[in-house]
Amino acid sequence: MYEKIFSKYTPERENLIYILHDIQDNHPQNYISEEAVAAVGKYLRVAPAHIYGVLTFYTMFSTKPRGKNIIRLCESPPCFLKGSDKIIAKLRELLNIKVGETTGDEQFTLETCACLGVCGNAPVMMINEDVYGDLTEEKVAVIIDKLKGEKL
Ligand code: FES
Repeated sequence: MYEKIFSKYTPERENLIYILHDIQDNHPQNYISEEAVAAVGKYLRVAPAHIYGVLTFYTMFSTKPRGKNIIRLCESPPCFLKGSDKIIAKLRELLNIKVGETTGDEQFTLETCACLGVCGNAPVMMINEDVYGDLTEEKVAVIIDKLKGEKL
């Protein structure tokens, strides 16, 4: 099952992060399973404990199944000062989940993160690869509505 991904990388430790990204991006639930860790460990001849160390160090990886849309709201000080707490409250209300949870229909996972590097547009969030800045509660409601519509 992972052979197709492995075939793109030589079996060297330096490729670990790239392989993990590839596996996560290609999993419909956006995560790295225990089975994947075992397969990667075997391919790179790296102990699973080392792989879990990497997975827990980098917040973009998840070892739990997640939704189709991963929402990552920045909660670093510049975004906080511009009201990221109100934005997270709005997201929680719209999605009816807490930070770290996934909606029952598996469409959205809500996470927080550190600075996304676009503080000039604070508050900021990313949904999958897309960055949304200058957020207001109204703007967030429109974005989420649009994504909910795309599910159909
Ligand atoms: S502090 Fe939020 S993007 Fe930099």
